[in-house]
Amino acid sequence: MAKRVPFVGGNWKMNLARASGAELAASIAAAARRHAGAEVCVFPPFPYLEVIHSALGGAAAVGGQDCSDQKSGAFTGQVAASMLKDVGCGAVLIGHSERRHGLGEHDALLSEKLRRAVEAGLVPVLCVGETLGERESGRAHDTIETQLRGCLTAHSEDSMARLVVAYEPVWAIGTGRTATPDDAADAHRTVRRTLADLYSASFSESVRVIYGGSVNAKNADDLFQREEIDGGLVGGASLKTDEFTAIIAAASARAAR
Ligand code: PGA
Repeated sequence: MAKRVPFVGGNWKMNLARASGAELAASIAAAARRHAGAEVCVFPPFPYLEVIHSALGGAAAVGGQDCSDQKSGAFTGQVAASMLKDVGCGAVLIGHSERRHGLGEHDALLSEKLRRAVEAGLVPVLCVGETLGERESGRAHDTIETQLRGCLTAHSEDSMARLVVAYEPVWAIGTGRTATPDDAADAHRTVRRTLADLYSASFSESVRVIYGGSVNAKNADDLFQREEIDGGLVGGASLKTDEFTAIIAAASARAAR
C-alpha cells in the first residue's frame, strides 16, 4: 500500500451556523483523536472559520471553500488566500464543481487561484470531475485530463509539492450515486498518469488523490481499500457526526494497513 497519508475533507458548503458548527467540530476533533493516522480538514463557510478552527483544537485543520485569484484590493465579496491563512486555514478547495458549473469558473481562473493558495502557504485541494453527459459519451477521462492540464500547466512541480487532487464526478455529488470503487480507481489512475506526464513519476506517486461524491459511512471503507484512493472529500455526510466519524475511521484504517 502506498505510504501517502490519507486525507479526509469535510465540505460543509453553505450549511450550519456558529453554534451548531462548533458543536459538530468538537465531535469531529474527538473522532480525529480517536482514529489517528489520517489528515482531517473541515471546510466551513468563511464567517465561521475562526470559531471552527478553535473548536477543532488542533486535532483537525480548517480550510476555505474557495479563494480569490487576486492578492488584495477592490474585489468586493472575495476572500484572499492570505486571509484564509491569517485566520488559521491550512488548506483551500479550488474548482469545486459547484463553482465550476454553478458559477462558471474555468481552468485559467482556477490556475490563478492555485497560484495564490500556494503563495499563501495553503494546501490546494484541486477538484476535477466529469458531468454525467461527459461520462455517458465516453469523455470522462479526457475531461479529467483537460481540467488538470488547464489548471496545472503554468505551475512547476516544486510549487505543487503539497497538491491534493479531489476526483469528484459531478453526477455523484449530493445525489446519493457513488462511483463504484473500480470506476473511481480508474479515474484516479488517469489523474496520476496526467500528473506523471506533466511533472514526474515520483511526483505523481506522492500526490494524494481523494474521491468525492456521496461518500458515506457505508461506502467509505470499500473506496479507501483501493490502493488508488487516498481518502475522500465529503459533503452531506460530513454534517453528521456518526457518518463522518465512520469515514475518518475508514481513513485511519487505511493509514494502518
Ligand atoms: P457529497 O458532496 O458528499 O454531498 O456528494 C461532495 C462534495 O461536494 O465535495
